[in-house]
Amino acid sequence: MQEILEILKEAGSEIVPFRWEDDAFYLLDQRRLPWEETWLLCKTWEDTFSGIKEMVVRGAPAIGITAAFGMVLGAREVKKRGEDAFSELLSIGQRLKEARPTAVNLRWAVERVLDAIKGVPGDRLYEKALKEALSIWKEDCKANILMGRFGGKLLPEKGGVLTHCNAGALATGGYGTALGVIRGGIRLGKGLRVFSDETRPWLQGSRLTCWELSKDGIPVTLNVDSASGLLMRRGLIKAAVVGADRIARNGDVANKIGTYNVAVLCKENGIPFYVAAPSSTFDKDAASGDDIPIEERDEREVLYFSEKNMAPNGVSAYNPVFDITPSKLITSIITEKGVLEPPYERDISSKIFGTSD
Ligand code: MRU
Repeated sequence: MQEILEILKEAGSEIVPFRWEDDAFYLLDQRRLPWEETWLLCKTWEDTFSGIKEMVVRGAPAIGITAAFGMVLGAREVKKRGEDAFSELLSIGQRLKEARPTAVNLRWAVERVLDAIKGVPGDRLYEKALKEALSIWKEDCKANILMGRFGGKLLPEKGGVLTHCNAGALATGGYGTALGVIRGGIRLGKGLRVFSDETRPWLQGSRLTCWELSKDGIPVTLNVDSASGLLMRRGLIKAAVVGADRIARNGDVANKIGTYNVAVLCKENGIPFYVAAPSSTFDKDAASGDDIPIEERDEREVLYFSEKNMAPNGVSAYNPVFDITPSKLITSIITEKGVLEPPYERDISSKIFGTSD
């Protein structure tokens, strides 16, 4: 883990959402930010499962890496019980993949660990799984730093950059995707100010994006989600950059609910709309956004604010937590393999999947 922290330090942000220390995995409890920094110990793979489900950790790449460490903890337990190790780990992987449905990085990371341990003798499973989980984490950090280099150049020399949700260090192995691009722009000396949508109902924008940017000394202003149109009309926003939970083969993007609204407003106002995501967020099995499952969460997340019901008793709420932004609204998709341009089908197939079809 020390090597990963060194890479992040060198890049300019030391914030991480998890730690692996003395053979133990800890999650920074993102439900308690910005009020307190509490680290939760995950003793079993079930602890990582509930950490993902209950949003202790969130953000597609961070969820994937957590699941990879869930597999590591699973390998340790299985070894202790002396069971038919690989088939047991296959079912643990299956359970972990079900923790949250939209972020494809979850499936990707579990399958990477399973591929790495296939055929490995029982007494070496844990060690092999750990090596793979640490590689996934390190690669994610390096990918984000590269996206920062590519994407930073696309941002304006100065002015406001809007972001939605938290696609920062907290949502990844470190450094961030969308916020990585902003960090990259600032490293180039650009005079940027981040406008952060507060992102109802979980407030990832106000609680998490504002927390991590303030910690790293990056100028940030918070706005309610519905203010972004006015900010654009007033000329305060020069570009928007968001992350992604899953990207289909045609470039349609699933991301936090409200991302689609931002993209439409950018189009209307002639503002570039960028998506930043590593190749682990692309789904070969999804031809378009119609093939991406959208998570729906408990209506209480919308109805209640600080345990107080904000609607009359008996009123119900609908709580889909992601939406699909059609590729035609996206100016470019920034990845660690380069910047993809429309028509995305071609660039995604050649640069991400390495095929020519
Ligand atoms: O529900 P969340 O907080 O997991 O949603 C997170 C997002 O929508 C992020 O923008 C996305 O996962 C990209 S994170 C680099």
